[in-house]
Amino acid sequence: MKYHKLVENAVKPDGFWGKLMIRSMNKGHSELTDWALSFLEVENGDHVLDVGCGGGRTVRKLCGLVGCGKAYGVDYSELCVKKSQKLNERDILCRKAKIQQASVSALPYDDNTFDKVIAVETYYFWPDKLNDLREVYRVLKPGGRLMLVFEMLYDPQNPDKWSSVEQRLGIKAVAEDEIHRILLEAGYENIKTYTHEGKSWLCAVGERENI
Ligand SMILES: C[S@@+](CC[C@H](N)C(=O)[O-])C[C@H]1O[C@@H](n2cnc3c(N)ncnc32)[C@H](O)[C@@H]1O
Repeated sequence: MKYHKLVENAVKPDGFWGKLMIRSMNKGHSELTDWALSFLEVENGDHVLDVGCGGGRTVRKLCGLVGCGKAYGVDYSELCVKKSQKLNERDILCRKAKIQQASVSALPYDDNTFDKVIAVETYYFWPDKLNDLREVYRVLKPGGRLMLVFEMLYDPQNPDKWSSVEQRLGIKAVAEDEIHRILLEAGYENIKTYTHEGKSWLCAVGERENI
């Protein structure tokens, strides 16, 4: 029962169980995020957005990578925004980080704003995946990159591997070719996918056309 309450709070953390979930995500997704960031090539001066920023640990990691650039976070959960802002208080004060409440479906940024966008373990919950990917495309600069990060990779050898989480949260584990296809359909180019040997991790990178 307690475990179920915790898991259900991955969707939109709120209240007591949401606080516990945020703490657990900050810890539990750290290694996955470090692995994924090794493919994103964040550079000094980059403006990078973390969509579905949860407890804000990725924003903190990004602050350490962007040099004179800036790290942004958005999440549609009020509690996540509050917790992320607390964790990144110092960088927010010196205007290196900014965290806002918003849905991926309506990002509060102008076109062509970001060099990179990262989204860790959140895509499963997006309400309109193709259009949400297009919304991210809109805020990327030409040549900018989106990285989607997953720890629930569909395994054809073991198709029921994620079924209990899938049923409880009404989501689906992702397949590598499916993510490649939807990124292409949303307009992304130079799509690359990476999997982790031994873990069911997937990371997919797509670029906005560089004109
Ligand atoms: C499993 S958590 C991952 C959090 C964080 N990225 C991490 O790796 O720890 C999923 C997050 O996505 C957020 N989220 C889900 N749907 C969203 C949407 N439509 N727009 C913005 N954030 C969303 C949730 O509030 C939650 O914080």
